[in-house]
Amino acid sequence: MSRNRSIGYKGELPWRLLKDLMWFRQFTLNKKIVMGRKTFESVGVLPNRTVYVLTSKPTKELRKLAKEKQIKIIKKITRIPKDAIVCGGEEVYVQVLEQCSDLFLTYINKAYEGDVFLPYFEDDFVLVNVIKHVVEDGGEMDGVEFEFRHYANKLIKMGFFEDKKMMRQLNEKH
Ligand SMILES: NC(=O)c1ccc[n+]([C@@H]2O[C@H](COP(=O)([O-])OP(=O)(O)OC[C@H]3O[C@@H](n4cnc5c(N)ncnc54)[C@H](OP(=O)(O)O)[C@@H]3O)[C@@H](O)[C@H]2O)c1
Repeated sequence: MSRNRSIGYKGELPWRLLKDLMWFRQFTLNKKIVMGRKTFESVGVLPNRTVYVLTSKPTKELRKLAKEKQIKIIKKITRIPKDAIVCGGEEVYVQVLEQCSDLFLTYINKAYEGDVFLPYFEDDFVLVNVIKHVVEDGGEMDGVEFEFRHYANKLIKMGFFEDKKMMRQLNEKH
């Protein structure tokens, strides 16, 4: 996310950071990844990963792709595999971020115009590692500073998440 929490603008990433794209590729290679239909439309087919596309109304075209490529269509958020990496966008993060064990975030130290933003997660997550501090070299973003951050979900790590879920269910009942 950028300094002002933006993650997307007009269906695309607001920036083009080659080092970040390389990091994303490396991190997700040969894994299961999940994304909302709009993000999928923006990134297209990503090879060497099983891509779970969340959509309530799969198009013919998407169904066809799912037959030919490593793509699976899921219609419910509860169908996300437990070992999958959730890759956005905002609409998906809003629903599942709280239940993720870890958050790997590229923090870009610059503000960008956006129409989708990363939901506030800071109360639930703790920063455990800053993996790298980098500066993009070359291209239109030459000199832009960013870092790869690893956050852990405090409640899940401490085993409190089930309690929190239970509390919420109890509150809903009463
Ligand atoms: N910077 C980053 O790391 C990053 C990462 C990802 C995305 N992005 C950006 O984020 C933007 C897209 O994000 P977005 O929030 O607009 O859309 P999104 O989350 O990618 O996709 C939203 C769509 O996902 C489906 N969906 C969501 N929740 C669902 C549920 N519970 N059940 C069934 N289907 C569900 C719906 O598809 P249907 O309408 O087909 O039902 C919905 O319209 C783009 O600009 C993209 O570039 C940025």
